[in-house]
Amino acid sequence: DSGDAETAGGDSGDGGAITVGFSQVGSESGWRAANTKSIQDALTAEAGFDLSFSDAQQKQENQIQAIRSYIAQGVQYIAFSPVVESGWDSVLEEAKDAGIPVILTDRAVDSEDTSLYVTFIGSDFVEEGKRIGDWVSENLGTEPINVVELQGTTGSAPAIDRKTGFEDAIAGNDNISVIASETGNFTRAEGKTVMEGFLQAYPDIDVVYAHNDDMGLGAIEAIKAAGKVPGKDIKVVTIDGVKDGMTALAAGEINYIVECNPLLGPDLAEIIKTLESGGTVEPRIVTQDEAFDQAGAQAVLADREY
Ligand code: AHR
Repeated sequence: DSGDAETAGGDSGDGGAITVGFSQVGSESGWRAANTKSIQDALTAEAGFDLSFSDAQQKQENQIQAIRSYIAQGVQYIAFSPVVESGWDSVLEEAKDAGIPVILTDRAVDSEDTSLYVTFIGSDFVEEGKRIGDWVSENLGTEPINVVELQGTTGSAPAIDRKTGFEDAIAGNDNISVIASETGNFTRAEGKTVMEGFLQAYPDIDVVYAHNDDMGLGAIEAIKAAGKVPGKDIKVVTIDGVKDGMTALAAGEINYIVECNPLLGPDLAEIIKTLESGGTVEPRIVTQDEAFDQAGAQAVLADREY
């Protein structure tokens, strides 16, 4: 078995490297691709890690299976980005019983027993949704505004929190109504399909609020196919700030993006090194996000890493 009290060399892989099992959500979006690259680039052999990485294809049962196999292998640390919020208590208890510290990255779990994980590092998703809601409230006038919402994966922390944050921000603005809200599962293809349905059902859509850039980009394809101009006839607001999203924003097809920083790898590496040397880390580490309008996107696009 292994644990945080053990020094490198105890249960480690070759040459004293720190063994880490990472269970990724999937490869649903550009954000996820950047997040995966950041983790794999940070937890390298040169940096002192022996990383086992698995892609759960947006399925909780695959993540639970991956975590169980990391426990069976006796890795020193487990990190994962939980696809949905609930249903983790048993497997996290198994990790705890095995003495393996767990680090949550990007997404939260709703377990009441917070001793089941050491820390949770990631963005404040409620705040992201609130910033989008504030922008809609402050920039689109006082006439009636019909919003359609493309939600992220049902039951995931970002889908729950971004919906809540937006609703909180527009509460009290009687001219803004969310006339339809459905999941597009954080993918471009499903964002497009769901938007096609919205366009058929509702002739008077003013704004699409997509919980991530990819679904917004899918919605843009649907808007164009319906003979309307994205960014003008129908405003598009999204969360993430990946290169494709920022490109569409710079071109005026998206109107506003709240960033969600995917570059969590270096912080994850540092957290593990701190724990490994006997240090402690804060139970919640909130990453900082910016927000961009068209001019803002044009200014940073050339240097955007992902
Ligand atoms: O959990 C973060 C979200 O997951 C990103 O905003 C989205 O693009 C990804 O799929």
